[in-house]
Amino acid sequence: MRPYELIKAKRDGKRLEPGDIRAFIEAYTSGDVPDYQMSALCMAVFFRGLDAVELGAWTRAMLESGEVLDLGDVPGVKVDKHSTGGVGDKVSLSLAPLAAACGVPVPMISGRGLGHTGGTLDKLESIPGFKVDLPVSDYRRLVREVGCCLIGQTASVAPADKKLYALRDVTATVDCIPLICSSIMSKKLAEGIDALVLDVKVGSGAFMKTVEDARLLARTMIGVGAEMGRKVTALLTDMNQPLGRAVGNALEVVEAVEMLRGRAPADYTEVTLALTAEMLVLGGRAGSLAEARQKLERAVRDGSAVRKLQEIVEAQGGDPGAIDDYSRLPQARSQVDVLATEEGFVTGIQTEAVGLAAVALGAGRQRVDSRIDPAVGFTLLRKVGEPVKKGDPLVRIHYNDPAPVEDVRARLLAAYSCGPRAPEPQPLILERLG
Ligand code: URA
Repeated sequence: MRPYELIKAKRDGKRLEPGDIRAFIEAYTSGDVPDYQMSALCMAVFFRGLDAVELGAWTRAMLESGEVLDLGDVPGVKVDKHSTGGVGDKVSLSLAPLAAACGVPVPMISGRGLGHTGGTLDKLESIPGFKVDLPVSDYRRLVREVGCCLIGQTASVAPADKKLYALRDVTATVDCIPLICSSIMSKKLAEGIDALVLDVKVGSGAFMKTVEDARLLARTMIGVGAEMGRKVTALLTDMNQPLGRAVGNALEVVEAVEMLRGRAPADYTEVTLALTAEMLVLGGRAGSLAEARQKLERAVRDGSAVRKLQEIVEAQGGDPGAIDDYSRLPQARSQVDVLATEEGFVTGIQTEAVGLAAVALGAGRQRVDSRIDPAVGFTLLRKVGEPVKKGDPLVRIHYNDPAPVEDVRARLLAAYSCGPRAPEPQPLILERLG
């Protein structure tokens, strides 16, 4: 089928042949199919979906668009974690060193910010010197020697997803179950893992707004993983407010390091420990989740987790001193607080709006080629359920360029709702699937 016919077939709700899907993705990767035709196909998939056979073919074509790494020479069960994306989601930054400190080798290929969500690579790159574009030979060596390596998609690993991820980000085709599933699973299966833990975010700051959609996405990814011979466990976790209090790249690095020192907000700490415990069990380093939790808490207490992060930063060309001295991270020149206009309790935070406000401030990209400012972002001074008086600061905006600040302030104020009573606390971990 010619690209035009394939797009038209999906637009009209027809089933695509695996061979046609593969040919289209191969041609897109090599540049023979232009971005505008891939955008049109993604939009057709957004509305029409993919069935299990189509999804298997799409994922496999993306996986095989590049090199499928073999880490067979690295001892141990290699386990990674992937999040479907959220706001303030800096879990990978603390989870990877924690798991590695407890003996699980973590090969991690991460993404950049997407839509309103932040990306691990952007956060890591706010550490001066940190390199995420290491050659595959270094990646393999660091997983073996340091126990962890965090890189971006190289031109050779899942290149179809690398291109498509950036395209979907700017064509409103991100929040689509088959496209998310194939994106995540293709790059995760390419990185040489034996098992995978998925953090499927649910709520106003997630691509999946309902538990039903999140469960469907989790089951879809578990199914694709099983078809390819990998063990996959998924936790559905709350994203009805940003995780922790920091939103923005360097600010999130600081909060992640604080987590490894046992000083981070409880919600972020809990989600990180729950996901990392799953990794320890899958990786054979703990016989139960309870035992895994004990090991993780010990790694925080005895400093081995934070030392592992320093080791990773140094091995990847970054400044390990920035982990002890946060002033070596990018700092915004100015701060201004968003003040509450009502009295009572915070009853909700429109989390996607907070993510989009962060993008507007420069913490994320508005176009494929935008440069981000690693220093800017927010500190949430009030979260859901906390009391607030008129004039109290809700959010601190850290900025360099004053131009977007008034718009960002208005967005943040509109994102907060207050009421006379504190809402019932909601569970952070909604479900476990595996
Ligand atoms: N994370 C990914 O890696 N891909 C998506 O499509 C969405 C979240």
